[in-house]
Amino acid sequence: MTHPEGPVLCVRGIDKSFGHVEALTDVFLEVHRHEVVALVGDNAAGKSTLAKIIAGVLQPDAGLIELDGQPVTIPSAAAAHALGIATVFQDLALCENLDVVDNLFLGRELHRHRRSWLRGDQRRTLAVDDAAMEDEAREILTALTSRIPSVRTPVHGLSAGQRQTVAIARTLLGRPRVVVLDEPTASLSVAQTAEVLTHVDSLRELGHAVILISHNMADVRAVADRIEVLRHGRNNGSFVASRASHEEILAAITGVTRR
Ligand SMILES: Nc1ncnc2c1ncn2[C@@H]1O[C@H](COP(=O)(O)OP(=O)(O)OP(=O)(O)O)[C@@H](O)[C@H]1O
Ligand SMILES: [Mg+2]
Repeated sequence: MTHPEGPVLCVRGIDKSFGHVEALTDVFLEVHRHEVVALVGDNAAGKSTLAKIIAGVLQPDAGLIELDGQPVTIPSAAAAHALGIATVFQDLALCENLDVVDNLFLGRELHRHRRSWLRGDQRRTLAVDDAAMEDEAREILTALTSRIPSVRTPVHGLSAGQRQTVAIARTLLGRPRVVVLDEPTASLSVAQTAEVLTHVDSLRELGHAVILISHNMADVRAVADRIEVLRHGRNNGSFVASRASHEEILAAITGVTRR
């Protein structure tokens, strides 16, 4: 696939150490609009560390991050959000007792002005606009082709796959350019995995640049355009998903080549 526009996100020369553990060394990664890049690698390869750097949760020791060709620093998660980078971490961080709408809008509720006529009081107050939030929640879930029956279901009543859907939907509220998903199918059944992969497809259709971190080669091959391998914190192979063989990718992940 050719990309006339240039990458939305490009990281290059990224180093990150924790004490004497070199988690990332001179790492390169780029992703375009309408593209799903899978980031794969064995345990401790550095995948989540890279995701956290892109999400502003960790700071790199060295390297350059560019958004739409412009160098940026991402000093915090809030800065990442403001730059249009949304991340779904593995622990999801949803509130069990709240329903889908409230989880989506937690901390960023939509408001409308309300005029109180009680006792002639004409001061304007701000009210949470439940109807508008419900409409937007439905719209986002429909765009993701989600099958959550009601947006007023509490999250504790949802399956693991549906929770992942809510977490992905939550990222879309800020209309991000880049969506990073860290192991979105790790604890899901076959059917739930298929559902989440459909959402990843929808994210691409909607024009987002998607970075999908996964251990599962079948998932990656089903949905990714490109596969980037990390091994011991270094780039160790870049593949066009439709053309790469399973063996080639496995060899890049494990460092074992068979002849
Ligand atoms: N906060 C931290 N403090 C110390 N070491 C860390 C920290 N975060 C990550 N590491 C180390 O950095 C290396 C890369 O870890 P990372 O979590 O990025 O790997 P990963 O590819 O996401 O692995 P997994 O597939 O198990 O999720 C590991 O050796 C890990 O122990
Ligand atoms: Mg990880």
